[in-house]
Parts: sequence; structure tokens; C-alpha cells
Amino acid sequence: MVGPRRQPSRKGSMADVPHDMLQEIKRLEDMFTVDTTKLKAITDHCISELTKGLSKEGGSIPMNPTWCMGFPTGHETGTFLALDMGGTNLRVCEIRLPEEVGEFDIIQSKYRMPEELKTGTADELWGYIADCLQQFIEYHHEGEKLDQLPLGFTFSYPATQDYIDHGVLQRWTKGFDIEGVEGKDVVPPFQAAVAERGVPIKLTALINDTTGTLIASAYTDPEMRIGCIFGTGCNAAYMEHCGEIPKLEHMHLDPQQEIAINCEWGAFDNEHKVLPRTPYDVIVDKDSPRPGQQAFEKMIAGLYLGELHRLVLVDLHENPNVKIFEGQDISALKKPYSLDASFLSDIENDPYENLQETHDRFESMLKIKCTKPELELIRRLAELIGTRSARLSACGVAAICKKKGYKTAHVGADGSVFNKYPHFKARGAQALKEILDWTTGRDGKPLGRGNDPVEILPAEDGSGVGAALIAALTLKRVQEGNLAGIRDPEAMLRGTKAEKPGTKEVEPNK
Ligand code: BGC
Repeated sequence: MVGPRRQPSRKGSMADVPHDMLQEIKRLEDMFTVDTTKLKAITDHCISELTKGLSKEGGSIPMNPTWCMGFPTGHETGTFLALDMGGTNLRVCEIRLPEEVGEFDIIQSKYRMPEELKTGTADELWGYIADCLQQFIEYHHEGEKLDQLPLGFTFSYPATQDYIDHGVLQRWTKGFDIEGVEGKDVVPPFQAAVAERGVPIKLTALINDTTGTLIASAYTDPEMRIGCIFGTGCNAAYMEHCGEIPKLEHMHLDPQQEIAINCEWGAFDNEHKVLPRTPYDVIVDKDSPRPGQQAFEKMIAGLYLGELHRLVLVDLHENPNVKIFEGQDISALKKPYSLDASFLSDIENDPYENLQETHDRFESMLKIKCTKPELELIRRLAELIGTRSARLSACGVAAICKKKGYKTAHVGADGSVFNKYPHFKARGAQALKEILDWTTGRDGKPLGRGNDPVEILPAEDGSGVGAALIAALTLKRVQEGNLAGIRDPEAMLRGTKAEKPGTKEVEPNK
């Protein structure tokens, strides 16, 4: 290996930083730091907003019932397709759930989601997705005569679901802005595009990535209670008892029956009552395609972290009291969204005491030559933004745990920020400790090393395995006659293996 061994973190010293710059760093610290008292206040407000979302009147957190009813047993079997419409890629998977408990085989292909698609037309979007599905089937099943394959479609945007194979898009998030989709069921145009190409699939379940994450993680871990995504966007799903959901009262469901709720907590505090927004958060919101929406998400999620950093730097360049990058052409930095979360990760990961990597990155990418004090400021700012993201995320997790009375739980998490952003996990765990007042871990053991009462752990593949499992659970339910949230049971089975008695698409519980 060439070069120094990467240190987990550098010591850093502000010794050479001039007074006015230090003052500026202090101002940023005050602005971006969320102390324990505030974390607790945010958590408490979040609990009441989660509850409000379940009420008949509703609130700003959508709390969408998903018609995914209950956890898998580990005994689900069959072959399923999963389609994941993520922000960057489109992924098609074929998943086989074998007899062995908690096992699965997966084959998958990734297709890039062209950037233009995000702001293009609805027809282009559905056409592109159907083309990818067709390619996948043609490649993996050339010349075969197929039954209709049950498909779990991971559509990770807020959607109202009257049925599990139905979803009215409430609003686009994560920078998507395709006209003519909001306020409509996304399933019929998707199915039409697929049917036009003669692709042998049957949409069994439309799911959210968080619900998929919850179910996939619970497949192998019985302690799983919450599924989270900390990626381009952020959100969580958990199991709620129907008796706790006043807005479903009219359906007269068994109060003890569990149903997964896709919280859509990105919309938490759209009214700006409790979150400590900075002027930079206000700009991010104002300049987004959906101002006033996703207040919580815009302070936490990967899509916005780099942009927040960039806005602060531009402001400090223009501020006559600080004047960073004085006399330099900062036109590259002025381009909105030119810094992404991985840029911030790299800054936090820079192992050199003199922040050489960061210096070189600014020079090559932005044509800016940074002084040592400027580099210290850049580094500290990345830490502040990354830490705030992790600490605020913990408020959402703590709120669900408190609402449900979970003293111990596993939380399955996925997404680029969770998986790749340095220290995100440790910072989140520290915040949970502060919010939930832990002094010892499970069984009186010291905190950390797997003993924290609530642990956020890397999840199983939610939009692949999770989507397949939810399709399997749905077909099983239909076969057993448990039809809540099923629009047309016969149509759901028609043409699939599950229709034929004696075949084992879905097995009863063992
Ligand atoms: C979407 C959610 C999704 C989350 C993570 C948010 O922007 O509204 O549906 O779960 O991003 O992908």
C-alpha cells in the first residue's frame, strides 16, 4: 500500500487560525450544534406529530399505512421480482426465497437513472422503467415460457395507499419534479407501460424503501422494530397496531393486527416549530422544487448536506468581516449543488494534519487555493453539518421508540449517509444515549460494543429482499383470505404460480 495509513481522525489544531476566523467558527458552532435539551424537545414534538399523523385529522407527517401486515416468519418461499426506483439507479432483482429459514438468492441488474428523467415527463419515466424490466427478463429468461412473476415495486416517495398495489403520489421529494404524477395513482401508468411491452409481471405490492428495510431486516433479526433510510432522502417505517390508528377506524380491522406505517418523517416540522433552522436551511428550502416541504429531511439527508456546506462558504466569502478565499474566483463554488455529501465525507476523512487532501480537492475541483485557517474552517463546518444530521436523525428513532414504549430494539438502517458518512453511526448512538438518558447498556453492561439498548444496525437489502418478502407476505395473505388492503384478490393471484393449488409460491407458516 502506498501512502500513510488512514487514521480514524486527526487531532486538528486551531492554533494558526486568526481571531476573526475563530469567531466565525464559533458562530457556526452555535448555529449548527444541537444540544441535549434541544434534542429532547425535538424528540417530544416528533412523538406528538407521529401520533397526529395517525389521527383522522392528520398532521404534517403523513404516517402512511402500507398494507404490509406483520413481520415475516423466515419461512416465506417463492421467486419474486423486485424493482427499485432509487434516486441514482434503477435496480431490477430476481429473488428466490428457498426453504431454508431466513435465506435468499438474488440476481440483479442496475441501470443508471438518467438525470434528465427526474425532471422529464411521466411517459418517459414509466417507459424507461418498463424498458429496463423488459431487458432484465429477456436477458435472464430468454426463450422461457413464464408465469406472471409477482413484483414488489419500491417507490420511495410519499404515497397514499388504499390498497397494497395502489399509491397516489403525495409529492415528489429528493429533487424529482416530473409533471402530471403528483395526486395520481402511479400503478396504472406503470402497468400500462409494462403491458405495452408484453413483460410477464404482476405488480403485487408497491412499497417504500423504509418498509422494505424493516421487513428485510426482520427476516433475519427478530429484534428489528424500525427500518430507516439515511441516504439521498431520509425516512422510517415501523409496525403499528391497527387499534392505534384512528384514521383506519372505519375499516374495523382487528385492533391487535400490526401494519407497517411508512412515516415519511422527512416532513416533520414543516411548520418550523422546533427544528433549529439556520439561514442556510432557509435558502436550501426556498431554492428547492418543493419549498415548505420536507423540513426535517432538508437538514439531514445526503442530497442537502453538501449544499448546506457550499452555501455557508459562499456566504463567508461575501461577508466583509471574514472574506474567505479573498481575491479568488469562486464561480465553480457558486454553482448550486456542486458539492455533494461524498465531498463532505472526504473532507471529514482527510487524515493529514495539514488537510492536504482537502486542499488538493478544492484546488482541482473548485479552482480555489485554501489557506490553512480556511481549511480548518472547512473541516470544522463539515463536522458540524455531519454531526447535526446524525443527531437530528436520532431524534426520529428515539421518538418512535418512545411512542411504542420500546426500551430495547434493533433498528435496521440503509442509505449512503448511514453506510458511508464518517462517524454518522457513532454520532447517532451518542445522541440516542443523551435523548434516552442511558447510563448503562443491556443487562447492566457498559454502553457501546453492541450493548446499547437501542441499536441502529446496517440493514438487509430492503428494496430487493424486502420487496420480495412483502410480495410473498401479500400473496400468502390473499391465499389465507386476510384481505385488508387487497383490491382484487382473484386478479392478484391470476396467472401467477400462487394461483395454482399445490404449487409452492407461498407456503403457509410452519
Ligand atoms: C421519501 C421517502 C423515502 C426517503 C428515503 C424521502 O424523500 O419521501 O419515501 O423513504 O426519501 O429514500
